[in-house]
Amino acid sequence: MMQVIQTISELRGVLDATRARGGTVGLVPTMGYLHDGHLSLVGRAVEECDVVTATIFVNPLQFAAGEDLDAYPRDLERDRALAERAGCDVLFTPSQTEMYPEPMRTEVTVASLSAHMEGAARPTHFAGVATVVAKLFAIAGPCRAYFGEKDFQQLAVVRRMASDLSFPVAVVGCPTVREADGLAMSSRNVYLTDDERAVAPVLHRALTAAAAAVEAGERSGAAVRAQMTATVAAEQRADLDYAEVVDAATLEPLDELRPGATVRLLVAARLGRPRLLDNVGVTVPE
Ligand code: PAF
Repeated sequence: MMQVIQTISELRGVLDATRARGGTVGLVPTMGYLHDGHLSLVGRAVEECDVVTATIFVNPLQFAAGEDLDAYPRDLERDRALAERAGCDVLFTPSQTEMYPEPMRTEVTVASLSAHMEGAARPTHFAGVATVVAKLFAIAGPCRAYFGEKDFQQLAVVRRMASDLSFPVAVVGCPTVREADGLAMSSRNVYLTDDERAVAPVLHRALTAAAAAVEAGERSGAAVRAQMTATVAAEQRADLDYAEVVDAATLEPLDELRPGATVRLLVAARLGRPRLLDNVGVTVPE
């Protein structure tokens, strides 16, 4: 039976006992309103760890003023049932005062990786993410922590934060889970109207067509960006924020796609209320 825990001290007690028995702890940090993407992270953690802890905490530090902190979708009862069915052992659902009893005076920032793409659109976002994830690592002491590739820049920021701060944790990136028409699963998809939902797969279409062009011999980063931009721009409702071609490890924008390079294509567009993000990987053929 899954345990639901609200306090840091109780969670530490349970996970200290797990480690004392020689058990491994897997951590799946989420903001709740769980979908199959989150559940795939739990599933992977269940395969690889003895005790799986998922966290549900809508972290105010990663929302700027005017963003959707208050409106962010929440359904704890449904999340509990889904997490338990997926094999989660512990669900950590701290309150805001449990996580931040005092105004935070400490902030974790990951320079350079946080500056462009999502960081340009949301300048305070990644510091909020890195800070709460560092805190969750310090609280839970996981051996392995699971994050979706859907938020590819977040994954890179978390990996670098864990490495720079020597957290003894393996950060595991897991493939994006998609709806049948290609739309990447996201809790914020609930904001889409029916008409916007019908248009939303354009992001994935733009990415897969651009990846196919790279596989067919396109070697210009600018041409790949232009192709993705044109595909998204053809949908009047979609307001493109960026279309990027970056090195998958460093997130540096690429002008020339060298044979053998591991490249990530990323797009973000506003579609009505939500900003949708998506990305795919491609290896440049030799
Ligand atoms: O991806 C998310 O849901 C959040 O950014 C995370 C990693 C749980 C931190 O609040």
